[in-house]
Amino acid sequence: MSRLGLTLMIGALAVAGCRQDMEDQPRYDPLEASSQFADGMSARTPVPGTVARDADLMPVPDKIPYPITIELLQRGRQRFDIFCSPCHDRTGDGHGMIVQRGFPAPPSYHQDALRKASDRHFYDVITNGYGAMYSYAARVPPQDRWAIVAYIRALQYSRAAPVAELPQALRTRLEASP
Ligand code: HEC
Repeated sequence: MSRLGLTLMIGALAVAGCRQDMEDQPRYDPLEASSQFADGMSARTPVPGTVARDADLMPVPDKIPYPITIELLQRGRQRFDIFCSPCHDRTGDGHGMIVQRGFPAPPSYHQDALRKASDRHFYDVITNGYGAMYSYAARVPPQDRWAIVAYIRALQYSRAAPVAELPQALRTRLEASP
C-alpha cells in the first residue's frame, strides 16, 4: 500500500472512531438555563428589526388591490359565510348564531363609522383580530381577506346605495312603490 493510501486509511479510522450521534450532542433544551450568557438564559432574544422567516414583507395597500369582479365577490361571500357569519351573521348586522349563544355582539357593518372605514381597516381586523375578536390570519390567506373585504363593501352598499346610482329599472320600481 502506498504511503498516501495508508495515511488516508488511518485518517478514515480516526474519524470513524470519534463518532457522535446527533441525539446526544451537547445542546440546550428549550428555555434551559445557561452560564454562557450574562442573563443566564440559553434562549436569545432576537435582535431589534428581526423578521420571521415566513413574514409577508409586502406593504399592505389601503384599497382592495384586485379588480372587483363577480368571481372575487362570490369567493368573498363564500369565505365570509364560512368564517365571519357565525358572529356577524350573513347580512353583517352582528346577530350570528355564536352571538345568540352568548358571545359578545360585534358592531353592525352598517353603522356610519364602519361604512367610512378604509378597506385596509377590514383587512387589518381579519389579520390581527380586534378586541374580543381573534385573528383569522391563520385561516384566511391574504387574497381571501381582500375578497371578504370586497363582499363586506357589497353588503354595506346594499343598504346605502344612492338612488341616483340604481339602474333605471330599479329606480322606476322604487318610485312606483308606496
Ligand atoms: C367568534 C365571533 C366572530 C367572528 C367569527 C368574527 N368576528 Fe369580527 N368581531 C367580533 C366581535 C365580538 C367584534 C367586536 C370586538 C370588540 O369591539 O371588542 C368584532 C369586530 C369586527 C369588526 C369591527 C372593527 C371595528 O372597527 O369596530 C370588523 C370589521 C370585523 N369584526 C370583521 C370580521 C370579519 C371580516 C370576520 C371574518 C373573517 C370576522 N369579523 C369574524 C366577533 C367575531
